[in-house]
Amino acid sequence: MTELIRPFKVAIVGSDHWCKAIAEIILSEKLTRHGFELIGLACADAGSEAYRYARENRIYAFTDYRDLYGLKDLDLIIELTGQDEVANDISKTKPAHIRLMDHVAASVLWEVFQIEEQTLAEQQAAEKATKSAFAELNQIFNTAADGMCLIDKDFNVLKINDTFAQMFLINKQKIKGKKCYDILPGLACNTNRCCLSRILKGEKRIEFETKKKRSDGSEIHCIVTASSFFGADGELIGIVEDTKDISLLKDAENKLKKSFQDLQEAFEGTILAMSQAVESKDPYTAGHQRRVSSLAYAIALEMGLSTHQADGIRMAGLIHDIGKISVPAEILTKPGHITKKEIALIEDHPQVGYDILKGIAFPWPIAQIVLQHHEKMDGSGYPQGLLGKDILLEARIMGVADVFESITSHRPYRPAMGIDAAIKEITENKNLLYDAQVVDICLKLFQEKQFEF
Ligand SMILES: [Fe+2]
Ligand SMILES: [Fe+2]
Repeated sequence: MTELIRPFKVAIVGSDHWCKAIAEIILSEKLTRHGFELIGLACADAGSEAYRYARENRIYAFTDYRDLYGLKDLDLIIELTGQDEVANDISKTKPAHIRLMDHVAASVLWEVFQIEEQTLAEQQAAEKATKSAFAELNQIFNTAADGMCLIDKDFNVLKINDTFAQMFLINKQKIKGKKCYDILPGLACNTNRCCLSRILKGEKRIEFETKKKRSDGSEIHCIVTASSFFGADGELIGIVEDTKDISLLKDAENKLKKSFQDLQEAFEGTILAMSQAVESKDPYTAGHQRRVSSLAYAIALEMGLSTHQADGIRMAGLIHDIGKISVPAEILTKPGHITKKEIALIEDHPQVGYDILKGIAFPWPIAQIVLQHHEKMDGSGYPQGLLGKDILLEARIMGVADVFESITSHRPYRPAMGIDAAIKEITENKNLLYDAQVVDICLKLFQEKQFEF
């Protein structure tokens, strides 16, 4: 057994011609790496590199190979002269316990060494490449802007990145052996909404917006994307959860919503004040703008317009006759016949209203709605005599609501005519004066939905 453990002691025999090759073999320490111990060297050229190296490294060096036979424990002579007569002579003259490998066998051995070393080098290169790829991936994983968490099929947290740890105030060293529901309990835990359960049932990718609690109890608003996580052999290991912190975005969004609400309330307050200013001057139309606003708003909603657009119509309705502020009160409240000049003054109110409102940056086209609320589909309206689709939809709605409300209300020059008269007016002039779709919706509100001002 001890013989097997101790290094195989060898000596090399070379000629002048082979000294360089021997030097390369020795210098590359190929023999040593393969379990041989070089204890002797015979080379005819005592000035060769191999000879000098042997001397410097306590290897016996001779110019005559027969001197090698006396080396203690020598197991093998490797003949590298390339000369058969030298190999034959060594074979005949060497002691029996020393084995001989001639240059032919040696060349085969070097080939084997070469292949082994090449394979080893390739393995080392592959290992290095794998290590480097792993290090790169690890770096990407840890420095990713999103929090990443790997969870196996049994809910064990395998790995979290630095971002995830910082996001949820978790100590990375303490996740070992922890379940995901221990680290970050969520509303979906133990329900059929749990991402891991859903992915194990076959879903590939799940994205949702949620609020999660940090380890100190504070909340974080985030978008979580869970996807399948596969091992090297393609088997499903679990899931990878990518968590994006959108708390700042949500805060900004909420602030924006709040400031928009504040602005809308400020607009509404201003519009109500304007509305009251007109009605205080003209008591006969008191409430008219409010009722027109309410009917126009109901038509807009029934037509399926957006809440924003409907809000604009509601606001415009409240001040659609603001231009009447420039008409003398005695004309507005005059019973009976009014002159052409007075009619012209009254018909100026959409333009006056527009001029009052055009400088205000409402988030709706209020000034334009006010300007166009007396336009008619056939171009017979005022002040611009616009045709059909050139009139804003909001103004077409306002026009129908305005006419309907006026007919059903008491006026200085006539008593209220009732809903039937209003229905008759818009039905008879549908398409001609009034937008057909708006008329249909208005009729539906009164005839089917029991709309009341
Ligand atoms: Fe009007
Ligand atoms: Fe009106």
